[in-house]
Amino acid sequence: MATTTADAKAIGELNREWFDSVAESAYKIEWVRDLVHQISTFLRENVEWIGQPIGSDLRVLDYACGAGIVSMALAPFASVLRGIDISGGMVEQYNDTARHLGLSPEQMRGVRGNLLEDGEFAAGGPEFTGFHIAVMSMALHHVADPAGMIKKLAERLAPGGSLVIVDWVTPKSPPPDHPAAHTVTRHGFSEKEVREMFADAGLSDYSFRLHPRRSKVPGGETQQVFYARGRTGA
Ligand SMILES: C[S@@+](CC[C@H](N)C(=O)[O-])C[C@H]1O[C@@H](n2cnc3c(N)ncnc32)[C@H](O)[C@@H]1O
Repeated sequence: MATTTADAKAIGELNREWFDSVAESAYKIEWVRDLVHQISTFLRENVEWIGQPIGSDLRVLDYACGAGIVSMALAPFASVLRGIDISGGMVEQYNDTARHLGLSPEQMRGVRGNLLEDGEFAAGGPEFTGFHIAVMSMALHHVADPAGMIKKLAERLAPGGSLVIVDWVTPKSPPPDHPAAHTVTRHGFSEKEVREMFADAGLSDYSFRLHPRRSKVPGGETQQVFYARGRTGA
């Protein structure tokens, strides 16, 4: 079934409300802290896998940035870090992170936006295009149209730029109900689905990795994080 802008707006609005309400508390929860530590350690230790020349002058888009975990991990390699998030509360957290890192708004700044919506909310203009790296971490399962989102992110890359998606592998059984259940559109993705979405977006040099250990989630369960990478044509 085709996904409409109205669907994207409706699920986007649920996400905005929820993440505004938890923006100050979310990263204090133990399993969330463990998870973001896993992700940032993986990105730092596997920065060459992302597929860009490693220096300190990369332009990085941290999409659905939350408090900026991805930006913190990649800051040593970047001259420009830009965050986009649908939640204004999360954008405030992101910009606080920039201040804590001692980075100016020219170096690191976040804005509200949703690439699945048109108009002023689409975070357009030269400041938000031409990225060497775009990363969307733990958020693709929150959007109405994941394949459409991957296409929109690919459009924000410079020629030869890398897109990285970090998310859950679809669990064998649905996770127990949780307070944010109304903000997700699925529980995760299969490798095949991800590969096909990257190919449909015109991305090549595809690579898919599993996190070396499973991640704790509420209810004493664990889930598996994946990292997928593709690149635009040079
Ligand atoms: C689970 S958090 C992950 C945040 C961050 N990327 C991280 O790894 O810590 C999901 C984030 O996605 C944002 N979000 C949800 N739907 C979005 C959309 N359509 N566009 C932009 N941000 C979105 C939420 O506001 C929230 O900050």
